[in-house]
Amino acid sequence: MNIVEPNVASFPVSRLRRLRMTPALRSMVRETHLGPEDFILPLFVVPGSNVKKEISSMPGVFQMSVDQIVRECADVHALGIPAVIFFGIPAEKDEVGSGAYDEHGVVQEALRAVKKEVPGLFLITDVCLCEYTSHGHCGIVRDGEIVNDESVELLVREAVSHAEAGADMVAPSDMFDGRVGAIRRGLDEHDFPNMPIMSYAAKYASGFYGPFREAAESTPKFGDRRSHQMDPANSNEALREVQADIDEGADIVMVKPAMPYLDIIRRVKDTFQMPTAAYNVSGEYSMIKAAGRNGWIDEPRVMMEVLTSIKRAGADIILTYFAKDAAKLMKEKKY
Ligand code: PBG
Repeated sequence: MNIVEPNVASFPVSRLRRLRMTPALRSMVRETHLGPEDFILPLFVVPGSNVKKEISSMPGVFQMSVDQIVRECADVHALGIPAVIFFGIPAEKDEVGSGAYDEHGVVQEALRAVKKEVPGLFLITDVCLCEYTSHGHCGIVRDGEIVNDESVELLVREAVSHAEAGADMVAPSDMFDGRVGAIRRGLDEHDFPNMPIMSYAAKYASGFYGPFREAAESTPKFGDRRSHQMDPANSNEALREVQADIDEGADIVMVKPAMPYLDIIRRVKDTFQMPTAAYNVSGEYSMIKAAGRNGWIDEPRVMMEVLTSIKRAGADIILTYFAKDAAKLMKEKKY
């Protein structure tokens, strides 16, 4: 084999510990840097006013009405976090998720209010039906099957409706086939050729979404999401999913969850060299919060270690409920 051996001296000439002896030196040779600009904070919008209700399984994460969302967004912006992603919980749910593409839906109202009050913040919307359907599935259900093409048409309506209300980017999270292409065409036809799409490209059918379903009130009433989300055992298939989304016009591709899928993040980054996002999901957050609260781990330290590992694996962007905590820590130079 014709491999050039790196010219590294061996012990005792080489002592790798030399470069670890002081904080200054460690900071000079550090390979991965984390900053508030790496983060997107997920936010849950509910109807009403003056609502701020903590999610019991996600300490520090709240369902908020539009007025509270505006205040939160001002804080987020002040911390140097560039973007948020909105999830909506509508007043009423139905079989076809009408609240998702309602001009006056919760997300649409939040978009208008935040655009006006915090114009510098980049606003992303999660495009999916599961928070809006009475059965909790991501699309239309017929004879027990979650149907693809009809559901995609509704997702296009949802994405266009978000764009019209002021979204800066849409993020389809459903994992149906062909949805990125359909949304791209829909946006272009409605005069949004410059609106980017961040696709949840390799999204696994994961147990780590448990706490999110409490936050978004989107637990399926029957069945599960295994007929559209990916099998956790598969890695090559993730590359096919990502390739398909790139071919259909995705601008940023996402891997989700993050921590148990660092290998997938690395493969996706190396293979496509696309702007790559990773979603550090609810269960990943809750586990660290719970262990931290019990005094079993040093929560801030573990949080920073996990976020650094996701970036080191190849993610350019991290969607995380820790965004504010981590940004504050970095601002106070405690990390
Ligand atoms: C679907 C969606 C989910 C998450 C983000 N978008 C839930 C699901 O697929 O069941 C999960 C995020 C998290 O767990 O933090 N709209």
